[in-house]
Amino acid sequence: MSVLIAPSVLSADFGNLERDVKMINDSKADWFHVDVMDGVFVPNISFGFPVLKAVKKHARKPLDVHLMIVNPDQYLAAFADAGASIISVHYEACTHLHRTIQKMRQLGILAGVAINPHTPVSVLSEVIASIDVVVLMSVNPGFGGQSFIRNTFRKTEDLKNLIIQKNSGAKIEIDGGVDLKNASELVRCGADILVAGNTVFSSTSPSNTIAILKETSTHTA
Ligand code: DX5
Ligand code: ZN
Repeated sequence: MSVLIAPSVLSADFGNLERDVKMINDSKADWFHVDVMDGVFVPNISFGFPVLKAVKKHARKPLDVHLMIVNPDQYLAAFADAGASIISVHYEACTHLHRTIQKMRQLGILAGVAINPHTPVSVLSEVIASIDVVVLMSVNPGFGGQSFIRNTFRKTEDLKNLIIQKNSGAKIEIDGGVDLKNASELVRCGADILVAGNTVFSSTSPSNTIAILKETSTHTA
């Protein structure tokens, strides 16, 4: 199977957003990863609907929206309307996660659940069969450019086992500190989707870096 690459718009140049969105359109990337932060669930504020709509206007690939916000239920319909194809909510932000997943299903989007580095994958055991994507945070959410937490390799294997055991079709997305060194190992452990912000946008040729990430991960898969 081909591994999906989702560059994170958080690391783009917001003064040249159209240029960076078009670069992703023309690259080997599969999804746009869009990080929404509210300054409450995470200690940082990123952007909201105006920027999401600006990305959507030029994007020719699915928008994978990662909600690092409290009470995400309140905004699911608005994010679906704004053009999200995949929405991930945080397990830690949802008191009634099952209901939140039902809402995402009703909206016709792919349903994702993200878990923080301290959260074990076992907490997803009752919902894993009804979600499309699990986002394993491999940094503490809030900022781009942080160092990869190495426990994520084992966690990816644990999640893969849970998915098999529960006969789930969920895909494993790794978010945070993904680089050209850890990408193939993550895929060996079971990753299906790799988010990359800093690795892509701080490189001299972002489009080339996306191609290398795609190539190395897909050869390993
Ligand atoms: C972190 C975000 C990530 C981030 C990844 O809170 O959820 O998606 O943009 O960026 P890098 O790849 O730079 O760690
Ligand atoms: Zn993210």
